Amino acid sequence: MTTTSPATAPERLARPLDLLVCSPEHFTVSYEINPWMDTTAPVDAGRALAQWEELCAAFERLGHRVRVLPGVPGLPDMVYAANGALVTARGSVGVRFAHPERAGEAEAYARWLEEHGLGPVHRPVHVNEGEGDLLVVGEHLLAGHGFRTELAAHREVERVLGRPVTSLRLVDPRFYHLDTALTVLDEDPAHPDVAYFPGAFDEASRRVLEELFPHALRTGEETAEVLGMNAVSDGRHVVLSPRAQRYADQLAERGYVPVPVDLSELLRGGGGAKCCTLVLRQ
Ligand code: ARG
Repeated sequence: MTTTSPATAPERLARPLDLLVCSPEHFTVSYEINPWMDTTAPVDAGRALAQWEELCAAFERLGHRVRVLPGVPGLPDMVYAANGALVTARGSVGVRFAHPERAGEAEAYARWLEEHGLGPVHRPVHVNEGEGDLLVVGEHLLAGHGFRTELAAHREVERVLGRPVTSLRLVDPRFYHLDTALTVLDEDPAHPDVAYFPGAFDEASRRVLEELFPHALRTGEETAEVLGMNAVSDGRHVVLSPRAQRYADQLAERGYVPVPVDLSELLRGGGGAKCCTLVLRQ
């Protein structure tokens, strides 16, 4: 095994991000569509709000722009803004949810983007859950399938954005979105970098990842099982769960700066920092 000591790790450069988040005033767990959700365990709404506000404050301290879309009554999962769209310099792709419980979120996000100069938003034919399953890294678009986003949607996104999409099959129901199994640490085409939990992928997809990112950080069960992979990186700072201590150490060895933010109450819906954050690229 090769490790990079802090002394030899490359200098990591932060990139200012433009972020969309959705306020959690209507967040609760009233249905179960992933193994993290338990309708019998009550959610502490005040705590969820305080933790979410801390996430926004952390982004602002890092110099990122944070824009807020107000939550909609009856759409408790809308706080997971990553699922609202995929916004790239080549265009914006809207979403179509796998579960009817979340269907109403799609138009709310698409309309917000169009009203804020980030349209037109392509209304998809096939199921895709936005940046939950569609991640930009360098020239690639990595796309998850197996639980939510359909394989046919990968081709649709490829057509709409005109950039190649690499499909990765997720096989562990705990890691139902690509962003629960893989962190894009640096999306800059000059030095793309990811970290991932191999156990979340089928064998063919693991081989694809090894070929694309031979030097990638591969994390263990202890990181994945606290949803540690669900982190937001600006190329230098990585906002992640304080429970992912081992991951934080591994990132520091590689020259990244871990920024722990506790989102334990939002984890009850099956989401962490990345789930709550949509990157607006233009
Ligand atoms: N309860 C939500 C769902 O199951 C959580 C979504 C988390 N989002 C994400 N990008 N992984 O759909």
